[in-house]
Amino acid sequence: MSHFPFEAQRSQFPILTQKAQLSSCSQSALSIPVTDAIARYMASWSEKGMDWGGWAELLDDARAQFARLIHADASDIAVMSCVSDLASSVGNCLDFGDGKNAIVLGEIDFPSLGHVWLAQQARGAEVKFVVPDAAGEIALEHYSQAIDGRTRLVSVSHVSYSNGFRQDIAAIGALAHAQGALFFVDAYQSAGAMAIDVVRDGVDMLVCGGQKYLLGCPGIAFMYVRRDLAQQLRPANTGWFGRVNPFAFDIRLLDYADGARRFDTGTPPYINAAAAGAGMAMLNEAGIGRIEAHIENLSRVALDTAASLGLPIASPRDPRRKGSNTAIRVNDSAGVERRMAEAGYVVSARGPLIRVAPHFYNSEEEVAGAMRALARMG
Ligand SMILES: Cc1ncc(COP(=O)(O)O)c(C=O)c1O
Repeated sequence: MSHFPFEAQRSQFPILTQKAQLSSCSQSALSIPVTDAIARYMASWSEKGMDWGGWAELLDDARAQFARLIHADASDIAVMSCVSDLASSVGNCLDFGDGKNAIVLGEIDFPSLGHVWLAQQARGAEVKFVVPDAAGEIALEHYSQAIDGRTRLVSVSHVSYSNGFRQDIAAIGALAHAQGALFFVDAYQSAGAMAIDVVRDGVDMLVCGGQKYLLGCPGIAFMYVRRDLAQQLRPANTGWFGRVNPFAFDIRLLDYADGARRFDTGTPPYINAAAAGAGMAMLNEAGIGRIEAHIENLSRVALDTAASLGLPIASPRDPRRKGSNTAIRVNDSAGVERRMAEAGYVVSARGPLIRVAPHFYNSEEEVAGAMRALARMG
């Protein structure tokens, strides 16, 4: 095997002795620390009956781990069960009056975001899609043409779920702010796989869920909200965990907690927080800069191997302009995904594409092997 920087971490993912799991754009591999964290939750439930205090600490830890991954403070992180809910909550507390009612988003973004923003048409929003070119990429100038003084919100995927195209969030954010618009980033395909600094990049809100590059399971999602912005927002989707003191039990008092926590609603997904917290702790310990460098190298291997085999690559050809995912066009992607799994490669089908999406625990050999297997099957 060529130089592999994460040998110790790799041994924490049992599936890798049997299969090359390369599906982090969909679900990453299960690790021993995540299994143990879930087992500890189950044991506390089984042995103590209930442990609300201990479970709340699991959530605090998950918030802190996520905050560290994106260079934020734990008090600026809200938690819900999925990205769609977090985005809906943001939409429902924006004002679309005074002629400042446009929401600008990329047509390459995950469909849920389109649905969430389109639902705001009923509250006066006008949704503008920025269309990609034939290669599935959006040039900065197309955002610049779409964003104007009427723009209330600019919403982009940091990395596309489909072809892995990586967007320059700092540059798009600057365009949004120059027109007085808010900037919302969907980092579901990037956080955990690459370094993000929400303050440096001028991000107002950033969302990500648990089961992809954060190494956890479905059922939990995190949202950073810039503190002074959060203080001005009054989420209509709310509940007792969004109060200044959830345990005041004052049914007549709708006071909003400070910062992003005002976006919390009801009893949180604690078991999912246990999984996500343990997963993100591995990432923070390994170092997100080192992880990003390794994944960029795996992208280079994926692209070079696919090109040498003549596979139809749907992703950008420059590893620095993409996330982990290298997408290959195939006929019958669902059938290819199944046959790849039988051959020992866990990859993910989306529309006409097969996505090969490694994480830090994957090797060059696994990525190259997946491309060779695809060439045999495609
Ligand atoms: C970039 C991106 N955003 C959003 C979602 C959906 O998020 P959720 O199911 O948590 O609402 C996905 C799921 O694949 C995704 O890849």
